[in-house]
Amino acid sequence: MIAPSHAPASGARSCLAIVLAAGEGTRMKSDLPKVLHTIAGRSMLGHAIAALVGAGATDIVVVVGPDRDDVAREAVAAFGGARIVVQRERLGTAHAVLAAREALMEGHDDVVVAFADTPLMTTETFTSMRAAIAGGAHVLAVGFEAADPTGYGRLVMADEGLAAIVEHKDASEAERSIRLCNAGLLALSGPHALDIIARIVNNNAQREYYLTDAVKIARGLGLSAQVLVALEDEVQGVNDRVQLARAEAAMQKRLRDAAMRAGATLLAPDTVYFNHDTKLGRDVIVEPNVFFGPGVLIEDQAVIHACSHLEGAHVGRKASVGPFARLRPGADLGEKAKVGNFVEIKAASLGTGAKVSHLSYIGDASVGAGANIGAGTITCNYDGFSKFRTNIGEGAFVGSNSSLVAPVSIAAGAYVGSGTVVTKDVAADSLAVGRARQVEIPGWANQFRARKKALPKA
Ligand code: UD1
Ligand code: MG
Repeated sequence: MIAPSHAPASGARSCLAIVLAAGEGTRMKSDLPKVLHTIAGRSMLGHAIAALVGAGATDIVVVVGPDRDDVAREAVAAFGGARIVVQRERLGTAHAVLAAREALMEGHDDVVVAFADTPLMTTETFTSMRAAIAGGAHVLAVGFEAADPTGYGRLVMADEGLAAIVEHKDASEAERSIRLCNAGLLALSGPHALDIIARIVNNNAQREYYLTDAVKIARGLGLSAQVLVALEDEVQGVNDRVQLARAEAAMQKRLRDAAMRAGATLLAPDTVYFNHDTKLGRDVIVEPNVFFGPGVLIEDQAVIHACSHLEGAHVGRKASVGPFARLRPGADLGEKAKVGNFVEIKAASLGTGAKVSHLSYIGDASVGAGANIGAGTITCNYDGFSKFRTNIGEGAFVGSNSSLVAPVSIAAGAYVGSGTVVTKDVAADSLAVGRARQVEIPGWANQFRARKKALPKA
């Protein structure tokens, strides 16, 4: 057996990756094809392709079922150069690989076959698979010790490597007692791949063309077959929503561990939900129950307080967010900016040290450095048809409970009195107050109480 190596794949070798994505996915009970279901905000197909690209795959062919334009589009979104081939009938994994026959004829150095419903496969493992082929193996299978081997193909070992893979349905009692199972993925030597796979026939229990038969065919041709052992967690496939949730949990653990290893503190890691692309800087602190949607970048030493929800947001150095804050796409917080509790920010930038501390909605706006936005301030950015912008200059001070009716500008250094409805631009360093003047009637309260007390009791 081959120990996993973490050496990078030699850049000089060309690699064809064939991703099988023609799954039926009926057990997902979904209108969405199985491989488009997401884990950490990215489709399973996208994860498989990203790991292969990381391992240096230079050509990627995705095998899809008939009429699966949605899967094809996702493949191309994940890797611009992806080629799509259609497997018209589902006659087995080897049959699916042969749908990529034209690419197989191009003479790559190695070929990696991956399953789009096995989303936890890492770049490191694909790299090790490629390294084994570069090191002289002609066929490389990936094995794992299954907690419950039922249903999996079994790896039958020989003195000098792998002798055969036997599908569960075709296995003898003795073979079924083998615990080392086939993960399904395969790497092959490029010059031999098409010759080996084209020889596979379907004389088995399921009348399917089994990719796994590549092993005994290679051995029959005097070629070598080896096994790379991986962890069951990494090779787990997803067939239903329970397994989808299990894969999600494994991916989340990976992302949390990576964030902590890179220098972020997660006070309660199990309660923080990451997107696959979340980026946290050094000495970032994330309190419990924080959700990161796609496209979030948090710079060094920022603090994300408990129960905050962020997507498409950039949080500058030493800025602070929450508790209970919502940053929507286009939120851009400068250094030391502060977004406090029950504040929503959308498509708005906050300059250095700007503060929106309590109970506000700031959308389609720019807030200058050092500006202070009082509690309950709302940018009224929408008239039911269009969105309008609010510009607030540096050092401006907006009193609590003000409504800023966009399009409107409050220039640098200006003050807005609390409770103002701002409908016109405010000049620099002015005070704008737009509310009814307060009236005071001395002694009114005593007269009122006396009047009420004189009435008969109800
Ligand atoms: C396969 C392996 C088995 C291994 C198991 C691990 C074979 C013959 N068997 O079995 O040894 O233990 O995976 O989970 O390879 N697919 C197509 N077209 C087809 C058939 C399959 O694209 O005609 C795709 C499926 O969508 C899936 C992958 O290939 O992504 C594997 O197919 P599946 O039917 O799940 O194979 P298993 O029976 O699980
Ligand atoms: Mg399967």
